[in-house]
Amino acid sequence: MNLTQREREFIALTKELLESEPVRMMGRWKHHGPVTTLDHSLFVAFSTYRIARLLRLDVRAAVRGALLHDLYLYDSKDKSAHPGNQCFDHPRFAARNAAKLTDLSTKEKNIILSHMWPLGGALPRSVEAWLVDLVDTLCAGLEMARIYHPSVLRERLGVQPLAAV
Ligand SMILES: [Fe+2]
Ligand SMILES: [Fe+2]
Repeated sequence: MNLTQREREFIALTKELLESEPVRMMGRWKHHGPVTTLDHSLFVAFSTYRIARLLRLDVRAAVRGALLHDLYLYDSKDKSAHPGNQCFDHPRFAARNAAKLTDLSTKEKNIILSHMWPLGGALPRSVEAWLVDLVDTLCAGLEMARIYHPSVLRERLGVQPLAAV
């Protein structure tokens, strides 16, 4: 498949994470309607990449934070998988799993912990964190309204979900 220059740059920036088991495992669970957490995370990360690049922000931190923002790794409908309200719980689980996967900067950790603001979690402390918070909301809206299904993007980027064993 002929990838655009932006898609190639995005893959180069995130290759190590895209090939990792935890990121590919996100394909096991549905996040918004029929959209898996992996497809949603790629949609948020690639959209963040394009905007952060345009605005000359810290592209690496923004994209890594965006790709890992929902790395909570459980079925959100399974009440036994987390202790409380999903809105508050999942950013903390995602930050913990992301820290096990890669060396997270303080900014990247805050991007993950604050992506649900103002509904829950930490306050965004950088322009990149505010951007991911906004992009996440917009992408979720497009997914829930069934306007865009990001599996198209995942297939273009060649990211394979990791099936349950
Ligand atoms: Fe989330
Ligand atoms: Fe999200």
